[in-house]
Amino acid sequence: MPIAFELNDRAVSIEVDPAARLLYVLRNQLDACGTRFGCGSGACGACFVLVDGAPVPSCDTPMWAIEGKAVRTIEGLGTAESPHALQRAFARHTAIQCGYCASGILISAAALLERVSDPTAQQVREALDRHLCRCGMQQRMVAAVLDAAHALREGAMAPIT
Ligand code: FES
Ligand code: FES
Repeated sequence: MPIAFELNDRAVSIEVDPAARLLYVLRNQLDACGTRFGCGSGACGACFVLVDGAPVPSCDTPMWAIEGKAVRTIEGLGTAESPHALQRAFARHTAIQCGYCASGILISAAALLERVSDPTAQQVREALDRHLCRCGMQQRMVAAVLDAAHALREGAMAPIT
């Protein structure tokens, strides 16, 4: 039986094992490879996506659980031509080194800014708590999220420099 859901504002219906994990379906069948495999057990944050606005580990989310839901991946956050305020801020702060953790972190940061328009640094740290970054970019990431929040509140996004 097909599983129907929304992927980045597009209706999707796909024949798949209901027990298959969302991460593998995204990467292998839906060409959404921006979501990364890290630990495969819900512990590193690399694979996070939004399901109905909540950040979840897609490596640990069975397809049956997303029937009728709205999934947003990094591909749905912004584009090269029109990056999200977070993507602009991460570039401005050079907050990404190897980039492996970045899509999951950006997704969790986006979920935070949807809920809290003026977060504290502590709230940002808590929102990113489930994400590992082996490159040690955490301080820059927190600064970038605060900067993006400010840009969104002001309704202005500074250009990437
Ligand atoms: S790959 Fe999903 S949390 Fe690590
Ligand atoms: S930028 Fe390399 S793991 Fe985070």
